[in-house]
Parts: sequence; structure tokens; C-alpha cells
Amino acid sequence: MPELTKEAEEATPVGDGEPILEVRGLVKHFPLTRGILFKRQIGAVKAVDGVDFSLAQGETLGIVGESGCGKSTVAKLLVNLEQPTAGEILYKGEDVTRLSGRALKAVRRNIQMVFQDPYTSLNPRMTVGDIIGEPYEIHPEVAPKGDRRRRVQDLLDVVGLNPEYINRYPHQFSGGQRQRIGIARGLALNPEIIVADEPVSALDVSVQAQVINLLEKLQSEFNLSYIFIAHDLSIVRHISDRVGVMYLGRIVEIGTDEEIYDHPTHPYTQALLSAVPVPDPAARDHRERIILYGDVPSPANIPSGCRFRTRCWKAQDRCALEVPLLAVPAEFRLTEGPAAHPSACHFAEEKQVVPPEEKPKPQPKPKPQAAPDAPPDAPPGDEEQDAT
Ligand SMILES: Nc1ncnc2c1ncn2[C@@H]1O[C@H](COP(=O)(O)OP(=O)(O)OP(=O)(O)O)[C@@H](O)[C@H]1O
Ligand code: SF4
Ligand SMILES: [Mg+2]
Repeated sequence: MPELTKEAEEATPVGDGEPILEVRGLVKHFPLTRGILFKRQIGAVKAVDGVDFSLAQGETLGIVGESGCGKSTVAKLLVNLEQPTAGEILYKGEDVTRLSGRALKAVRRNIQMVFQDPYTSLNPRMTVGDIIGEPYEIHPEVAPKGDRRRRVQDLLDVVGLNPEYINRYPHQFSGGQRQRIGIARGLALNPEIIVADEPVSALDVSVQAQVINLLEKLQSEFNLSYIFIAHDLSIVRHISDRVGVMYLGRIVEIGTDEEIYDHPTHPYTQALLSAVPVPDPAARDHRERIILYGDVPSPANIPSGCRFRTRCWKAQDRCALEVPLLAVPAEFRLTEGPAAHPSACHFAEEKQVVPPEEKPKPQPKPKPQAAPDAPPDAPPGDEEQDAT
């Protein structure tokens, strides 16, 4: 196995589990071209620009960050929907980016994706049975033809849908139910890792909680490892063991949920946390709100040194000259406190942005999902409210 770089080493999980996935120096640049007949490259959109993290078996790593910071591109690279410009994706120690043919196919089976929008990610002309069973066309070894219908029905049951819905079409389901179909499809090949890209962002709040609960239930049932991408910090805290904060194509801070939410040391994380809505008006008046000025720079024109410096209220000359590495800041190295986690800032300091009584509350944990027997066209209940 290749040696760990310093950054990758710092970003490894703190849990006991062996890493099932390791990402090292992952880069994806999309070329910017000019000209119609004679295209020439004039630059590159640096969507992912040096990402390192590890994922332990059975762990959930949340990835948060503003729109356009490269979250979906990381997800697509992990499931091989995009090819990296550089870097390594190690699945159980083997670099997936160097595999091809059968070996690649075997690894891909174990890393599946759940997409954001259940309204557009399911083919409207296919029945639910065909959608969930489609991966078996590529991997017939997982389910021989005669066994597929039964397996698909089992999967519908596992995600809380009536197995008799197998012949229905996506439009006959609500948003929450469609996302369950997407999850069932993700589970079809018995993967070990699920990359969920904003899996609940398009859903009504009450349905979000149900889908999150389903994901948690499936994780403990099948010992799944999750990469959970979202921009809602409360949801990410609720489901994640560790959280990585992304800015302009890089992870700028990573740690356990307690380290990131209660002891953030990177100014960007602190600003993001200060923007989390606080329901209690009295508490809201007392908390510090950090306003970030200016727009996120273009990923085609990333600032020198620290990429956050154009919006950072603490920026100094050094920040324009030296790229801060994702590492435990020197001042915290000798302490064993929660501030001693990787943060890519030259002047990292602990700042409790959200006072203890105001921390973003985890999502309520309602009872397990809607009754599997509720027909998709039944009168609206919780699960049906988002069926628009
Ligand atoms: N195929 C592509 N060609 C060119 N640029 C791309 C391509 N895909 C993504 N990008 C650019 O890469 C950057 C990162 O995009 P990405 O979709 O990964 O962001 P994101 O963090 O998932 O955003 P959101 O929260 O809005 O989903 C954006 O600037 C985007 O415009
Ligand atoms: S390195 Fe400088 S600009 Fe970057 S986050 Fe830290 S203080 Fe701000
Ligand atoms: Mg995205």
C-alpha cells in the first residue's frame, strides 16, 4: 500500500475501525476551452483540488460546504462517474483509479450512490421493479434472472415499501417514497459503502427525518459505511460520526461531530456554524453571527495561499503566500482536547460559535417509516405531503 502523506494521515478516522476507503490528494479539474472548430484550453475549473479523507467500516462521514464547493464532484469520483485528474481512491487498500475491466467492476459494486433529487433520478418510463433490478443486468452474478423479482420485492420491503408496488411507475409515488426506491436501488448489489449526495434536500422536513432514520436503520442492519453530503449542518451532525468541511474544492477542517460543531478552529467552519438557524429568539439575540463578505471566488481562479483569504476576517500577509495544510495546528498538537483536529488555517483558534444551549438540535427521531401498506395514492399522511 502506498505511504500516507501528512495530510491524509491527519485526516484519517479517529474511530477504531480499519479504513474501508481512503482518498488521497484527489483532484478533478474540468478544462475550460475556447473556439468552436479549434478548441484550445484556456484554463480549468478546479472543482476538486486536493481532497484527503478516510472512512472506517460502519462509519458515517458527513461532507458540508456551500454550493459549488465540489461536494457532488467528490461523490461522482468515488463512484467512478467522473475520472480524477490526479489522486488516489483506495478501497480496502487498492487504488480504484488504476483498475479496469473486471477488477474495476467488482470494486464498483461495493460503492453505490444515492442521488439528491428523487423526482429526476428515476426513469419515469421504467417500473419500480426494473429500476431497482437494473444493476443486476450489469452484475448478473449477484442475482440470477429467476431470482430477481423476489430480490427486488425483498428490497422494497427493506426500505419500507409494499413489495406489491413492484409494477408501479415513479410518478405513482411521493417524494419520500421515491427516495426509498433510490435507496433500494443503491442497496441492490449489497454494497459496503453508500455515497449519498444530498439525499434529503429535496424532501419535506417531516419526510427528511423518516429517510434519515431509514438510512440509520440500514446502516446498523447491513454494517454500511456512508459518505453523507449535505449543506444542512443540523442534519449532517445528526447522522455523522465525523464531518469534513469543504471550501472551493478542498476540505478545510475535519473531525468528529463534537470537534467540528463545539470546537471549530477554522474561520470558515465558524462562519458556517454561526449561520445555523436558532429557533429560540432569546438565544438568537445573544449569539455571535459571523457575516462573510464577498462572493465565493470562481473555482477557475482560486486565490493564492489560503483559498479562503478573500473572505476571511483574520487574513494576514502570510495567508496570501503560504497554502495552509490540513493538519492539527501546532498550538493544539500537545493538547489532547477537542481542538486538536485537522484544520487548514495558519491562525487556527478555537471559537465556540454556538453556545452550548444553542447548539443545532438534532432532527427529531420519529417512529420508523410510514406503513409499508399505505398505497402511493392514499390520502396524504406525513409521507405523502411532498408528493407534488
Ligand atoms: N462537468 C463539469 N464541467 C465543468 N464544470 C463543472 C462540471 N461539474 C461541476 N463543475 C463545476 O465544479 C464546481 C463544483 O461543482 P459541484 O457540483 O461538485 O458542487 P457542489 O458542492 O455539489 O454544489 P451544490 O451544493 O450546488 O450541489 C462548480 O463550480 C461547478 O460549476
Ligand atoms: S489561513 Fe489566514 S485566510 Fe486562511 S482561514 Fe486562516 S486566517 Fe483565514
Ligand atoms: Mg452537489
